[in-house]
Amino acid sequence: MSVVPTRIAILASGSGSNAEAILRHFEGSETVDVAFVGCNRQESQAGIYERTRQMGVETTRFNKAELLDGGLLQALQSKGIDWVVLAGFLMHIPEGLVRAYRGRMLNVHPSLLPKFGGKGMYGMHVHRAVLDANATESGITVHWVTEAYDEGAVVFQAACAVEPNDTPESLAERVKELEHMYYPRAIAACIAEHVTS
Ligand code: GRF
Repeated sequence: MSVVPTRIAILASGSGSNAEAILRHFEGSETVDVAFVGCNRQESQAGIYERTRQMGVETTRFNKAELLDGGLLQALQSKGIDWVVLAGFLMHIPEGLVRAYRGRMLNVHPSLLPKFGGKGMYGMHVHRAVLDANATESGITVHWVTEAYDEGAVVFQAACAVEPNDTPESLAERVKELEHMYYPRAIAACIAEHVTS
């Protein structure tokens, strides 16, 4: 018996370290195929192109208009994409895309939602806000993507300590380690559950 793999797309905007962790996790997988990696920023502004190139994977650029006018959705559908995973993707996902992939679109957020989430809470802004609030722990949240920023149901959380001498950068690094370790596994678990239910 042969398994038909679930085809996933990764959408990212930045350095692509989460994209790399996801690609590595599913390398050689019989059940999940990373069939598309897309980025909304140009190559000079996003490390993901070079990072994936070194892995022999192409990152495709798309622009804001394609995201908003349904062009990206069409491209995903024509490639037979079953699931979309956001990995440091900084643009708002339009309703049409959310609807098309409802229950099959995940995001990772670098804090313990609902704390430090919502509009404007991305990248270093999150870690700065955690430090400004004197929080003693932070972490990651994997959640379903809905129309509202960072408000979909939580799938998984993992926490880490905030150290007294942390800078936003050192905290970001600790949080990223959690993302790299757990996000791919959470994706795999959600897909496995979906396939068998
Ligand atoms: C991650 O911390 C992610 O949670 C956040 O943006 C960062 C992206 O990092 N949304 P990278 O591009 O995967 O290295």
